[in-house]
Amino acid sequence: MKITTTIPARTFGAALFMLMTAVSAPVIADPGSLTVHADRPGPKINPLFYGLMTEDINYSWDGGLYAELIRNRSFKDSGDKVDHWSTVAPAGASVTMSLDRAEPVSAALGASLRVEVTGATASAPAGIANHGYFGVPVKPSTKYAASFYARCAPGFSGPLLVSLQSADGRTTFAKAQVTGLTGKWKKYSATLQTPSGVAATTAGQFVLMTDRPGTVWLSLVSLFPPTYKGRPNGLRVDLMNKLAAMKPGFIRLPGGCYIEGYNLASHFDWKKTIGPLEDRPGHPGFWGYRATDGMGLLELLQWCEDLNAEPVLAVFNGYAMGDTVQPGPALEPYVQDVLDEIEYVTGDGNTKWGAVRARNGHPKPFPLHYVEIGNEDWGDKSGSYDARYVQFYHAIKAKYPHLQVIATTAVKSIAPDVLDDHFYRSTGETLRDVSHYDKYDRKGPQVFVGEWATTEGKPTPTYEASLADAAWLIGLERNADAVAMECYAPLFVNVNPGASQWDTNLIGYDGVSSFGSPSYHMQCLFGGNRGSVVLPVDFSVPQNTTAPDPMPQGRVGVGSWATQVEYKDIVVTQDDRTLYKADLAAGVADWRFVRGDWKVQDGALQQSGNSGNCQAFVGDASWTDYSLRLKARKISGEEGFRIFLHVQGEKDFISWTIGDAGNTHTAIEKKQNGYSRGIGGDAAVKVETGRWYDIRVDVHGRQIACYLDGKLISEATDKPFPPAPTFFATASRDDKTQDIIIKAVNASAAPQVMALGIDGVPSVASAGTQWVMTGSPKDVNSIAEPQKVAPRKLLLNNAGRSFTHEFPANSVTVLRPLCL
Ligand code: AHR
Repeated sequence: MKITTTIPARTFGAALFMLMTAVSAPVIADPGSLTVHADRPGPKINPLFYGLMTEDINYSWDGGLYAELIRNRSFKDSGDKVDHWSTVAPAGASVTMSLDRAEPVSAALGASLRVEVTGATASAPAGIANHGYFGVPVKPSTKYAASFYARCAPGFSGPLLVSLQSADGRTTFAKAQVTGLTGKWKKYSATLQTPSGVAATTAGQFVLMTDRPGTVWLSLVSLFPPTYKGRPNGLRVDLMNKLAAMKPGFIRLPGGCYIEGYNLASHFDWKKTIGPLEDRPGHPGFWGYRATDGMGLLELLQWCEDLNAEPVLAVFNGYAMGDTVQPGPALEPYVQDVLDEIEYVTGDGNTKWGAVRARNGHPKPFPLHYVEIGNEDWGDKSGSYDARYVQFYHAIKAKYPHLQVIATTAVKSIAPDVLDDHFYRSTGETLRDVSHYDKYDRKGPQVFVGEWATTEGKPTPTYEASLADAAWLIGLERNADAVAMECYAPLFVNVNPGASQWDTNLIGYDGVSSFGSPSYHMQCLFGGNRGSVVLPVDFSVPQNTTAPDPMPQGRVGVGSWATQVEYKDIVVTQDDRTLYKADLAAGVADWRFVRGDWKVQDGALQQSGNSGNCQAFVGDASWTDYSLRLKARKISGEEGFRIFLHVQGEKDFISWTIGDAGNTHTAIEKKQNGYSRGIGGDAAVKVETGRWYDIRVDVHGRQIACYLDGKLISEATDKPFPPAPTFFATASRDDKTQDIIIKAVNASAAPQVMALGIDGVPSVASAGTQWVMTGSPKDVNSIAEPQKVAPRKLLLNNAGRSFTHEFPANSVTVLRPLCL
């Protein structure tokens, strides 16, 4: 069977048409056809269309892009403790270190480190060491800039020995010394040059020692490797090179929960992030570690400048995770802060804040077209976003009428200029929703897809997820009249154990090396081949409409969502046979737990954590017809119980949720390779806390019957979902070169041969360029294999106004035939 889709040109405000066809490929695919109509140009593509989103998550800034190598440089990370520092005291010497809040270098720094050394000698120097962000990285032939404030007690004037060493202190890679310390604070600098023979290591340490007894106070201890474009207080070179290769049009900064903070005190307060580092107090970051704010507003703007990108300025709007400033007079100071911030970004030297920026070292204003009011304000349970957005909108428009003001959730009382949509989904979900914006109401606000990712792969996406990402981008690009801009999130992850707070991220690194995921490479390819205008495409591809249809089978399980629960007397029977009877007293070695805090308590299996999607599975993956019985009790929380059937994995199962949607309903849901849909039985049920319920689920073939306290509550039939689409394409023209650019994804396991046609151009040269990415679905890139999946640039042979082209199995392709 074949399916044919016509994708006509779309003009602004015109009716919508289906832009793509999505089908799954049979084992041997029949040829299809794809025609680009170059004479019927559609919507213009915003030059800022492809961008980046950033926040300090996963040690993205501190411990990542911000090149500072000293962790806890101002000794503020851990209250009265001095984390990430240790004493270095050889035999015969002793060292103590403690925080001293008297006489700080500045009010913002607040404390200094008092180091008292006794017994140190020239042959046995002693002092302190910093262990950096998961080790201090050391590379050969590299010049490091060390600096710190120091003062000393009478009787000591130095020298202080500054060095880069191996973690065990046996090897010194580079050293220098500073002298002339006095009782007054002074900033000292030293250069540490490593020789060529040093083997790069992520596990070095930065050491400050003395070869005689004395007491020294230290503050703002810093160590920078060479930075991108040599900027002082600058950014890591390898990561900036990776970003430059993406050719981003904008950076959404600082986006995400980081702008909000977990309470009002921890939001990104831009005025505290500018000026000399000594005057930046830092703040508790949203993602569980303290921010130095060395990466402040000006550094973020210079980051954009260095990449020829514009900022999309995300501003704090009074909504922190735990706290909301209500609209009206209480919000006014925050509105004023945003007006000041826009002036800092765009004002000339005659404006108050433009002059501050000039004093901070950047006289030239930055370009700005978009300001985003907050982040994910659908989370504001007080429902105040509409009025808060309106308050910011009017204040901004009054002074800066040309700015586009982005809303982060629906606003009804006025029409927002742009709406920010976020999507984090499985491969199956993404592939099935590539046409998301095809039917978007063009009379509504333009869309900024400000966070999206196919979330399979940890810490970076699998190739399969990247194929879905490519298909999703195709869907966004061809709807360029509805979608103004897009950016993937999160951008960065430090891959050291314990460094990440988010599973699937675009670019990974440790202290020394970095790698782009397959999705990163795909986004470089798309960002580097951007058109000016969408061209309509007709295509027709073979379609397999039949899903594989095996009889469902699998393990059973229990779980919860943001709810504390316990389960006992768990039995699985088949006719008169007992397939499984939980013996919790004997242990739970036969269970597999995914998320949650599970333990056996008072004879029951208890989940006491507050995570979503806590799962505990048991039994045999081949079980088919059975009856599952158990008792369940809710201890506390937002919902009720979750029972699992036909479990093949944490993303493949049937779930019966009792107390779904805020403990109001029951729902039976099927999840197949991460794609989920309700398949039946939705009854009104509220689970009472503290009461034991009897639960029974009967499974016969595909039929599922769910009983609560002996009463039949819900029924469903477990049938496979239709196959996800696998072929996607879009085309555009680059108005500067007149090149036609075809982007295509073949997410099936079979190659797809297509008869290609380019209508509306006089002729097409026989040779052009193509980039192709292929790989196995589960492939990932890593520090060890950074290029396992990466595009290859090839000649496009035998091209013309019509030619045959094979799109390999599991591939992303960009074709650039040369139009004459
Ligand atoms: O990208 C990670 C987080 O996901 C962002 O901080 C937040 O906006 C979203 O929920």
